[in-house]
Amino acid sequence: MATLDSREVAVVAGLGGWLPPRVVDNSELSRRLDTTDEWIRSRTGIGRRHVVDPGMSTVDMAVEAGRRALSSAGSTGADAVVLATSTPDQVCPASAPQVASRLGLGGAAAFDVNAVCSGFVYALATAAGLISAGASREVLLVGADAFSTLVDPEDRGTVPIFGDGAGAVVLRAGHPGEAGALGPFDLHSDGELADLLVVPAGGSRKRMSDEPGDYYLSMRGPAVFRHATARMAESSRAVLERAGWTVGDVDRFVGHQANVRILQTVAKQLGLPVDSLVLNIEHTGNTSAASIPLALADAATDGTLHAGDRVLISAFGAGLTWGSTVLRWPAVTPG
Ligand code: COA
Repeated sequence: MATLDSREVAVVAGLGGWLPPRVVDNSELSRRLDTTDEWIRSRTGIGRRHVVDPGMSTVDMAVEAGRRALSSAGSTGADAVVLATSTPDQVCPASAPQVASRLGLGGAAAFDVNAVCSGFVYALATAAGLISAGASREVLLVGADAFSTLVDPEDRGTVPIFGDGAGAVVLRAGHPGEAGALGPFDLHSDGELADLLVVPAGGSRKRMSDEPGDYYLSMRGPAVFRHATARMAESSRAVLERAGWTVGDVDRFVGHQANVRILQTVAKQLGLPVDSLVLNIEHTGNTSAASIPLALADAATDGTLHAGDRVLISAFGAGLTWGSTVLRWPAVTPG
């Protein structure tokens, strides 16, 4: 008779990240907006961000990150491509099939997951489900977003916060006890608070608008800050309990890179030492669905993350959406 541990689960087998070449630092922003390097750094921890040049898209970035993750995994061919994004190249169709084709994976199952800044965690759970259901043996999961194309270039409240980029992991079928095995998961949403972070026009409710501002991201920053800290802490506690871990078991906390102060507050609420935080927001800004895989790739490259480390991952985003997962870090080298 099959035992629980004979089930196949998703295991992290490779990762990679990619940032567009154009860098916008705080001093460049302070020359065109009513802001300062000091304000942005002290309120957010962000010093610079990468942005796409006109003509470069989410798919272009996703292909670069995906290629690196496939190389890191020594992949011979994923049978599914999941793209976590809320800035697809077109409203219709999904962008994942284009990513798959450009990586030579045409024919693979391919679809987008939109849970905004929680997208990577939601897509991890989705991809893990494909593997556990026996629908896939190897999944390329890319988180990619180009929020610089959604923010009002004149809005000092959002422009400094967001950056563009892509991060990717390869997940293969494996066993629950091995390093890199994902889960459990904790996922939630609250659509009553959709207006806290919203692009009002361009979708089916308001296809066209006479107000140009309706095509830009509108954000109620302080309210988002409060919900982000409370929900990420709550979800982290829930997933730790489900995993049978205590806070003391966590070596590294990889939270969505929205704001250093949000992550420090969550760590404090959980009782995690601040030096367990994996941070790369200083040079990326908030890259939405790309932020967690980019942080993982940076930490694995610079030696912050070691094979065997117990990692807590937690994200929060528009929707509202939030979620968390855990894993023991595997021996992988970013591509
Ligand atoms: N430069 C200078 N001043 C700015 C500014 C900027 N870039 N942006 C806002 N301000 C001003 C405000 O106008 C306000 O001025 P006032 O007091 O005269 O009205 C003042 O700074 C304080 O604004 P407030 O919004 O209360 O600041 P804050 O400390 O809450 O920080 C955020 C603002 C946006 C950094 C913070 O609320 C935040 O990070 N929220 C979460 C955003 C987020 O993570 N979104 C993505 C979620 S996935």
